[in-house]
Amino acid sequence: MDIQTVSKLRLLFVCLGNICRSPAADGIMHLKAAERGWDEALTIDSAGIGGWHVGQLPDSRMRKHAAQRGYDLVHRARQFDKETDFDRFDYIFVMDEQNYSDLRSLARTSDDMDKVRYLGNYITHFGGPQVIPDPYYGGPRDFDFALDLIENACDQLLDRIAHHNRL
Ligand code: 4NP
Repeated sequence: MDIQTVSKLRLLFVCLGNICRSPAADGIMHLKAAERGWDEALTIDSAGIGGWHVGQLPDSRMRKHAAQRGYDLVHRARQFDKETDFDRFDYIFVMDEQNYSDLRSLARTSDDMDKVRYLGNYITHFGGPQVIPDPYYGGPRDFDFALDLIENACDQLLDRIAHHNRL
């Protein structure tokens, strides 16, 4: 499907701190969308449930591991805003159960909540659908594993958009 036939979709990735998983998903999706020529058709952003790291670049460990795969992570952390983000995005992808229940508490309506999906539901490798664990307190392998899962899920998201123009 070419860019003319992909209607504009707005995708937001959410994790706890917005310095590890969701900015990685944001950067990976930006590059993968650009590779398909869809950077104009998709709005892609990320945000955190918490506000501790607002304004910061992603964690240096995540930046390093992502750079080894060709992704330059330049997002500046911001906090999810329930008054605007539920309206500004069509789909909101969370990483784990905590993110999901946090957004459930923030949702104003059932329409808000219907937008929230587990990113890990789209994983086809590594044993199939699963949550994307927080690597923040982990080691190098945890960062690489999070990136493996996120790359797989983003490829699947883009394939679904290609075939159905929705998720
Ligand atoms: P993220 O990881 O949710 O993938 O960005 C975390 C980063 C920072 C913190 C927690 C999780 N923190 O508590 O500061």
